Amino acid sequence: MKRILTGDRPTGKLHLGHYVGSLKQRAELQDQFDTLILIADVQALTTHFLNPQLINSSIYEVTMDNLSIGLDPEKVTFVQQSQVPSIAELTIFYSMLVTCNQLSHNPTIKTEAKNYGYTEMTYGFLGYPVSQTADITFCNANLVPVGEDQLPHIELSRKIVRKFNDLYGTEIIEPDAKVSNVGRLCGLDGNSKMGKSLGNAIYLCDPPEVVTQKVRNAVTDTNRISVKIPGNPDVCNVFTYHKIFNTEEAPNICSMCKNASLGCVACKKLLADKLNSILSPMREKRSYYENHKDVVKELIQEGTRRANQIGNENLALIKDKMHVSL
Ligand code: TRP
Repeated sequence: MKRILTGDRPTGKLHLGHYVGSLKQRAELQDQFDTLILIADVQALTTHFLNPQLINSSIYEVTMDNLSIGLDPEKVTFVQQSQVPSIAELTIFYSMLVTCNQLSHNPTIKTEAKNYGYTEMTYGFLGYPVSQTADITFCNANLVPVGEDQLPHIELSRKIVRKFNDLYGTEIIEPDAKVSNVGRLCGLDGNSKMGKSLGNAIYLCDPPEVVTQKVRNAVTDTNRISVKIPGNPDVCNVFTYHKIFNTEEAPNICSMCKNASLGCVACKKLLADKLNSILSPMREKRSYYENHKDVVKELIQEGTRRANQIGNENLALIKDKMHVSL
């Protein structure tokens, strides 16, 4: 069986952007691939080193989010990054093959630095794509389901792996990215991608009334100042949500908006109801795990144990080839 590795930073709960970007695909692929889900708590430190308590509690939240969307605990392996030393070691070896220039030109790093308001970047933050390469390759993953913002990182990973194999004669697998065909989900403000740090997100565990309220406040076609004038779905963020989450009703909504027979308030109500019907089974699954935290803990520990076995074995081979030995 080929292997998937993908993961999330535990810096809070996961939202719809994560769902369409990566989580949905994980659930769809879990039967065909040996699936490892990395809870990237070390990577979370690159931006949240001042708040390690938040990271620690989010390890549970993120794992429960993954379980709530239908990942099967019998099939997938949950891995806590900080507890897998082979990832850290591999990061150091890879770091010799990456220039600072390469890292500082990475467009995702630049966007994130801007969003976080960094005037200067720490070595750890700038270098997280290197550590992410170790995340993916410590277990020789073939496929990485990710949102499209992660593509520059996977491109770098492939470069590092090629160079490493050329230099040391290792046979580390060059991973492929798998981007969801939905594309990027804008936040409710319609301005930028949905993000925890941007305050424009719908969380997978938001209660129904919160979802409805958030959708009610979402930005629509700003030119449509009255129900009586026709709207333009092409520039309306709420309609983008309909296209993604409400595929069946979307064509109808589109024409009703264009001929002014559907106002924004009613349109948003349709969307909120649809989102709630998608989220409802997730909330149900989640509540089981919220009442059984010990089960979640056990799952992470068990998975991490397996990851360590795989990682230690691979790292021993790699170090041997590198002559990092006595
Ligand atoms: N950088 C990813 C994100 O922000 C999280 C992540 C960490 C990841 N390690 C990974 C994704 C390895 C895929 C593979 O969403």
